[in-house]
Amino acid sequence: MSKTWSELYMDSYQEVTSNLKRINGIAIGFNTNVDAIYHMRSDLIVDLIHKLGIDSVALYKKVVKWKGSIEDPEDFIAGLCGCFEKGRASEWIIQNEETYNYLLENLPRERTLRMGGQVGIMANVLSELGVPKVIVHTSTLPKELKNLFVKSKNIVIPIHDKNGNITFTQPRKVKSIDDRLFLHIISEIDKGDGIKIGNIKWICPRNNRFIATFDPPNAKLDINLSFSDGINDIAKLIDVLIISGFHMLNSSELGIEGVKERIKAVLNLIQQAKQANPKLLIHLELSSTKNEMILRELFNLSRKDDYFDSLGCNEVELAEVLNVIGESKLSKNLSLEPTQAKFLQGCLKICQKLSLKRLHFHQYGSYVLFTETGYLASNEKLKQALCYASIITAYKALTGETKKKIDLVTNFDLKILNSRFHKSFKEIAAVLENENIITKEEFLTKGIATYNEYNLIVIPTLNVSKPKYTVGLGDTVSSTTLAAEITLR
Ligand code: GLC
Repeated sequence: MSKTWSELYMDSYQEVTSNLKRINGIAIGFNTNVDAIYHMRSDLIVDLIHKLGIDSVALYKKVVKWKGSIEDPEDFIAGLCGCFEKGRASEWIIQNEETYNYLLENLPRERTLRMGGQVGIMANVLSELGVPKVIVHTSTLPKELKNLFVKSKNIVIPIHDKNGNITFTQPRKVKSIDDRLFLHIISEIDKGDGIKIGNIKWICPRNNRFIATFDPPNAKLDINLSFSDGINDIAKLIDVLIISGFHMLNSSELGIEGVKERIKAVLNLIQQAKQANPKLLIHLELSSTKNEMILRELFNLSRKDDYFDSLGCNEVELAEVLNVIGESKLSKNLSLEPTQAKFLQGCLKICQKLSLKRLHFHQYGSYVLFTETGYLASNEKLKQALCYASIITAYKALTGETKKKIDLVTNFDLKILNSRFHKSFKEIAAVLENENIITKEEFLTKGIATYNEYNLIVIPTLNVSKPKYTVGLGDTVSSTTLAAEITLR
């Protein structure tokens, strides 16, 4: 008889925790930054709306327009309110320093500085879990950021020493990197909170966040010379190279040619890394990219030579990718009326069109993994890896922290996993039954099926109804699943 989900969760946790130290390492580039997290309750948002003198009709129009970039404080409000209304997470780039400064001066005083950027977040998580070597890239390293890196020795930045050789140094000890500070403005909003102004009445459907970013160094995707010069050494020390940060490219400054040039520089680095270590897995972690052109160029250029083996995304990012790979109809359809059938179809299209070995789609209530036959580990092991990631992520949602040794029994009601499934998991099982792939009941117990030519592994996740912060949870899921897969292979 197959194990219950709660047994599987317990076993996976034990197995991954005791073996994680056996993997080689993981390198992550390129976007690291400091997040300034504001808990934006509706009264604070309304105050800001009044302060800026925006009327409700103008606001409504701006929200509907969904501009995707911030030229003045009103655009910030429109993005924030859109996320509030729809419950979708988004990141918009602030186009000028003046608006950035205005926001910093006029947002509530109370805020928390936390490690930010896919790269910074993943690096800290993996280091805390005990991955033997975590090699991290950052374009800037002000003292506020230094202090946010975990203190452990297993996290390092490649640096040239006096003789021009590459050494690996704990981030807190590095002196030679640009020390300017650019805070990413993260507004966390709560499910159930309500905004009422004029005829507008919005109730926030989901715990969620809106990110406003002004970060010129990351917007250029400048790769540190020590990271690029050291790529051969780096590649030999690791099992996985995780890449992210394209979403921040500032196309109005770089122009299309500039964007292409930045993308090509990264692809070139990937190629070198693969040559130095042919077994290396290259994972692209997506982040909501409002500028379509960037994603279009990224996939046009990277498709030519299968640079990425694996991709990680959420609902919004999935739709954004589909839109630029010739599946704009499905993308629109999915954004207007999301269903699990469309998500599965979308994942399949992406795997096929980008020739991926692996795609990890994470959403509230379930994690979905597509893998090609012959991928790294058996489906059972991959399922375990997802369960491990769910534990680490739920703990982070609950406490805001990553912890190596978690007391599962005190922190979670694992038994609930055997009987009460989130609707996304049940809906996937129903889709598969409808398509005559597997019965609903069997899938809800096993979570494994074959979907077209791919292995499909889905697990019900541990859900935290009131997360401390939502920002960075996706990065936590993706990176810990990868680390666990390597551990269990
Ligand atoms: C994006 C944001 C960064 C945030 C991260 C979380 O990279 O720019 O501020 O920490 O997403 O995933």
